[in-house]
Amino acid sequence: MAFDWKSYTPVIIPDIPNLHEIDVYVQNGGYESLKKVLSNDWTPESVVNEVKAANIRGRGGAGFNAGLKWSFMPKPDGGPRYLACNGDESEPGTFKDRKIFEYNPHLFIEGALIAAYAMQVTTIYVYIRGEYRSWILMMEKALKDAYDRGFIGKNVLGSGFDIEFHVTGGAGAYICGEETSMLESLEGKRGYPRVKPPFPAQKGLWGRPTTINNIETLACVPLVIKNGADWFSGIGAEAHPGPVLYGISGHVNRPGVYELPTGIPVLTLINEVAGGMRNDKKLKGLIPGGSSTPILRGDSLEGVNMDADSLREAGSMMGTAGMIVMDEDTDMVEMLWRISHFYHHESCGQCTPCREGTGWLEKILIKIKNGDGEIRDLDLLIDLCSQMEGRTICALADAAAWPVRYTIDRFRDEFEARCKQSTYALA
Ligand SMILES: Cc1cc2nc3c(=O)[nH]c(=O)nc-3n(C[C@H](O)[C@H](O)[C@H](O)COP(=O)(O)O)c2cc1C
Ligand code: SF4
Repeated sequence: MAFDWKSYTPVIIPDIPNLHEIDVYVQNGGYESLKKVLSNDWTPESVVNEVKAANIRGRGGAGFNAGLKWSFMPKPDGGPRYLACNGDESEPGTFKDRKIFEYNPHLFIEGALIAAYAMQVTTIYVYIRGEYRSWILMMEKALKDAYDRGFIGKNVLGSGFDIEFHVTGGAGAYICGEETSMLESLEGKRGYPRVKPPFPAQKGLWGRPTTINNIETLACVPLVIKNGADWFSGIGAEAHPGPVLYGISGHVNRPGVYELPTGIPVLTLINEVAGGMRNDKKLKGLIPGGSSTPILRGDSLEGVNMDADSLREAGSMMGTAGMIVMDEDTDMVEMLWRISHFYHHESCGQCTPCREGTGWLEKILIKIKNGDGEIRDLDLLIDLCSQMEGRTICALADAAAWPVRYTIDRFRDEFEARCKQSTYALA
């Protein structure tokens, strides 16, 4: 039976007026999960184990089990330890964390506090995209209210747990969302990704143990503590469970952020949830999880669901669940050039394959776009992708290569037609 998405009741962004205000949040059961872990028999290890069992797969793009990541933190040695919350949200097509900052900031704050208790962290930073000025101000207000209520600070709720929590505005570059680059930026340096190992759990902020999690990942944590790991892992797709914020943009009638379980059919999300294709046009292509995830053809989406396994089988990835929907009028050459321009502009320049490769991808795509391309340029583009993938310090090079590789692979006719036109024009 098809999933009745209309009967789903949101839990990350529930329909409660003024939930961003701490009084309203508390009246609706807010901070009860924090109280539960601080006042009951919950040891830090038992919180880690519960979150691990829930299988919250990181909502920042890589889909790694949050509790498992927390378990990599070394035992406390009396020195400082950090949680860095990633709200940089700069990938084209991704715009869901800002909804949490706006509509339910205390759910995220509560989740970060529970994570801090579980990992025995001493300081939390939330790094928010610099251009999100109004959301930074909202978060500052929410944190101040939580400090005033005794949910943050020394001896939280009389439990003996001490924690500091700071907001930092992002430095204005997409690369600062890459986790180690974010750590550099938080330390006040230029956002250059670090070579791993050492991994942040061993040597993170100022050389101390650090865990990095996405905002939405952390917002799931109080729900797991409140309702149990089985409840969470029973929602949506078995291997990739839970509620998720789908950010649907592009040529649909009702673009927006929709909270639903994982595993919803892609076509249900486009045709029903987002109101169908604009002007009744045909669906030509879908980028399912932010601009770096491989594009899928519109005619290949029957039976494809929004979860890691189903999308892998279809030839793509879940990423951030930021779905970019394209109709039959979309010029795939133009679209790919636009994405490549972004990655070229955002490369930090440390690694040669990325610094030079992103530039060459863009240059060749401009040549094709302008009608000066040749068929062999398409093979050159794919060869360039192979020289970039897996050969750099961070995954930005892969993120730049995948759209090129898969858009050409899946819409090759359109690229060839553009090249042939130029050959005829020159003849
Ligand atoms: C170039 C680049 C940009 C990224 N930008 C973000 C971002 O804005 N927000 C985010 O949560 N993760 C981003 N990531 C992924 C992070 O490196 C990291 O995997 C994530 O924050 C971990 O959180 P999670 O396990 O809760 O998903 C980016 C990765 C790369 C390579
Ligand atoms: S892959 Fe690109 S963005 Fe990442 S460190 Fe290397 S040059 Fe910088």
